[in-house]
Amino acid sequence: RKIKEGIFFAGAIDWDRRLFDALIPLPDGTSYNSFLVTGSEKTALIDTVDPSMASKLFAYFEDVKRLDYVVVNHAEQDHSGALPAVLERYKEAKVLASPKCKGMLVDHLHIPVDRICEVGDNETIPLGGKTLEFLHLPWVHWPETMATYIREDKTIFTCDLFGSHIAVSGLYENDHARVCEAAKRYYAEVMMPFRSTIKKHLERLGNYEIEVICPSHGPVHTDPSRIMGFHRDWVSEKLANTVVIPYVSMHGSTEIMVDRLTEALSSRGVNVERFNLTVTDAGKLAMALVDAATMVVASPMVLMGAHPKVISATFMANALKPKLKYLSIMGSYGWGGRMEEQVKATLANLKAEYLPSVMIKGAPVEKDFEVIDSLAEQIAEKHKESGI
Ligand code: FEO
Repeated sequence: RKIKEGIFFAGAIDWDRRLFDALIPLPDGTSYNSFLVTGSEKTALIDTVDPSMASKLFAYFEDVKRLDYVVVNHAEQDHSGALPAVLERYKEAKVLASPKCKGMLVDHLHIPVDRICEVGDNETIPLGGKTLEFLHLPWVHWPETMATYIREDKTIFTCDLFGSHIAVSGLYENDHARVCEAAKRYYAEVMMPFRSTIKKHLERLGNYEIEVICPSHGPVHTDPSRIMGFHRDWVSEKLANTVVIPYVSMHGSTEIMVDRLTEALSSRGVNVERFNLTVTDAGKLAMALVDAATMVVASPMVLMGAHPKVISATFMANALKPKLKYLSIMGSYGWGGRMEEQVKATLANLKAEYLPSVMIKGAPVEKDFEVIDSLAEQIAEKHKESGI
């Protein structure tokens, strides 16, 4: 499918995939975007597809007699997994990859070293009427990632950056709200921990004239300012007047506390996004953490500690390093335990300020509700003081 003269989409739509990295829910499927670029002298393939979809990629290749280069912007197997098969078919093709990526392709896919040419940052390779320029953009998921820019076409191939896990029949983004949500989910799940690095990449990309962004998942963007603007917002220091409450309740006491906190916060003008961890989609929780100012973790005491589902969620939040400014812990216990210390230990990466915890023995009574109201009051005041 043609994007511009000599630039074609050759990817695979995975309508049915529901889990990525054995971890990340994909409610809307995904795509693995590969692009064929034909210059007057040479032909390059930019990224491949997940190995499970190699036949879809090869279906595009009937008329492709020769491939000079395969650009690997990212070594993760959803983009590089079909590379061995492509190299087997096109014996003359050379792989172009960043130095870090070269090592990863050898380690993960056993690609022969002599098939891989390292490309430096800002290095260019002419195809005839089209020039590939490589921009090292580490940590738009893994440390080896890069983008490939074609100056003549003002088109950039950004691998995971600006991508979205969404399967659509069209080539281009045309349902902005849906794509924005999918892109935010994707950013939240794999890029949020590298926020400050991505901020610098966005500044760098601001120096390039870009008409079309071709990410390696989801639709192609023909309004680059829109998707770049969303990412600028997500990596900024801006915080939302929102409290995220991940919680589990076994016999109802913790849920009553969460209900009270939800009501007390919303009556004070603070938004609440609450996630019952027994039914929630972890991607939704990650998205809420992109800009929330505060998180209150709520758990019952189980076997002398926090509920394992709560620990799993806080472990994830710690790994994602959201820009949270305030934290608190609350819950109900029967006879004692070390829930607070456990939760705090799993959140060690976060630099947020802890507000007082609310721990209640048994089911909450009126005096406990007053303590919860007081926590809500403190959160609302802190948000106001911080201009949130
Ligand atoms: Fe889509 Fe990080 O791979």
